[in-house]
Amino acid sequence: METLIPIINRLQEVFLTLGAEIIQLPQIVVVGSQSSGKSSVLESLVGRDFLPRGSGIVTRRPLVLQLVNVPPLGERRKQDNGNGAKQNAQNNYPGIKAEEWGTFLHCKNQIFTDFSEIRKEIEEETARSTNNKGISPEPIYLKIYSPNVLSLTLVDLPGITKVPVGDQPEDIEAQVQKMILSYISNPNSLILCVSPANSDLATSDALKLAREVDPDGRRTLLVVSKLDLMDAGTDALEVLLGRVIPVRLGIIGVVNRSQHDLNTQKSLADSCKDEQAFLQRYYPSLASRCGSRYLARTLSRLLMHHIRDCLPELKTRVTVLTAQYQSRLNSYGQPVEDHSATLLQIVTKFASDYCNTIEGTARHIQTSELCGGARICY
Ligand code: GDP
Ligand code: NA
Ligand code: MG
Repeated sequence: METLIPIINRLQEVFLTLGAEIIQLPQIVVVGSQSSGKSSVLESLVGRDFLPRGSGIVTRRPLVLQLVNVPPLGERRKQDNGNGAKQNAQNNYPGIKAEEWGTFLHCKNQIFTDFSEIRKEIEEETARSTNNKGISPEPIYLKIYSPNVLSLTLVDLPGITKVPVGDQPEDIEAQVQKMILSYISNPNSLILCVSPANSDLATSDALKLAREVDPDGRRTLLVVSKLDLMDAGTDALEVLLGRVIPVRLGIIGVVNRSQHDLNTQKSLADSCKDEQAFLQRYYPSLASRCGSRYLARTLSRLLMHHIRDCLPELKTRVTVLTAQYQSRLNSYGQPVEDHSATLLQIVTKFASDYCNTIEGTARHIQTSELCGGARICY
């Protein structure tokens, strides 16, 4: 994800100066049976420990996690100190002395810099609106601000479960399914199906639900978790190679932290290292196409595709905005300043530089056409 951050930031900067909205990145929604490892997978994508995880039903309300990319603390400090009171207002995060922090919609004014407090607040807020293992479709909204994240939305959901426990209603399965469908039917959702390697993929409810809303598999990715928990003598090779169920966007095996790892507070960094070692040892031929890091890279690539698909629309927006500014300026009778040329240069450069390198080819992006659009205005 890191490589995308400066690109998106640059585009965002440019579009903000024009008063246009930046590309809407897809939201990433995790779907899977209870305890398949959904929250663990999301955590490894964000790179911080902050989600409640564990055996049994832990995630009982949707968590809509909005990641917000902010400048590093050093830069924000400079804005705070250097530019006087007036410009301070332009720094959206004045006075916050942390590199990364979180806020909740339900307690807006409280700033969480300790990520274990974020987890505690999720747990407490879940408990406030549900009782004894009950679930609620009412989402918890959390924003995490960090220089190390892409500005995009991740959704953590309760797992698919069949048998009601505690105060759960008889129709718990139907209720959870409805909740999941409400998120994944959004065409701007990327569906991250999480299925544990130690259960039969053919019966994966997650994949079944994804198929309902995405029959062509254009926005469904399969993560096979718990590779380390397979029975002796079996391995997930066939599954990972897509021979059991093919998944168009890919099948990625991961090893998250076990319950014992959680209990002993194993760090994400150590877990990532051990995951790599495990993959090298047991799946040497696939090691480079598996693991949490590869999953993050794959998501980056998919986001890049999305941006590429948005470029023609961006071009149109730039053209329209330019025409508007032009006519406004003309009505004032002032000399025309050419902002759009710079903007189009950036969009065009973005298209050729980044999409080229990522894709190897940028057939879909007609750079010349982007440039041509500018000329229509003049
Ligand atoms: P969720 O209910 O789908 O959100 O799953 P969690 O992320 O809460 O994980 C459920 C349990 O499975 C926790 O005890 C995790 O430690 C454990 N777990 C998740 N992924 C793995 C994995 O890849 N390997 C092992 N050994 N345990 C895992
Ligand atoms: Na769980
Ligand atoms: Mg969970």
